[in-house]
Amino acid sequence: MHRCKAMADIGRRQFLRGSALVAAGATVAAAGAAPPHAKAAMPAARVEYPSNRLANVSELKMNEPLEVNYPDADAPGVLLKLGARVEGGVGPDGDIVGFCTICPHKGYPLAYSADNRTFNCPGHYSVFDPEKGGQQVWGQATQNLPQYALRVAENGDIFAEGVDELIYGRLSNVL
Ligand code: FES
Repeated sequence: MHRCKAMADIGRRQFLRGSALVAAGATVAAAGAAPPHAKAAMPAARVEYPSNRLANVSELKMNEPLEVNYPDADAPGVLLKLGARVEGGVGPDGDIVGFCTICPHKGYPLAYSADNRTFNCPGHYSVFDPEKGGQQVWGQATQNLPQYALRVAENGDIFAEGVDELIYGRLSNVL
């Protein structure tokens, strides 16, 4: 019986020693950790787009894409006069739209079909509708075509001032 009590005392001492070590470890860890109110610096989500003159209304021909680049030289796109007022359309007839022509699926360059009035991808055959804001109507992309926010000045100059979807391969449209 006496031996059992001695064993219990030894066990209790070891337990208390272990608890003390755990408490000491927690204190050291807490001392090295950031205070609970500290926050990592978060980058601003807002993107500042340049206002770039892309062309003049007088340069556009009906249903013929005019090649441009926006928001920088590595982002090919087109301006397109569709002949009927459409979503996102600007100009006197509300029919001028602009899109990035890099496929949002895997970055192939899109081709415009004047017959079908669609942008078509030679990579995996996605199809996008410029009359419906670049909506994907078929294919493997999981995003619509990035459309430009356009403004037309009094003299007919067309400015791009934003893009509504992420351009393929970028973490931000403005690098
Ligand atoms: Fe265009 Fe795949 S790259 S559908």
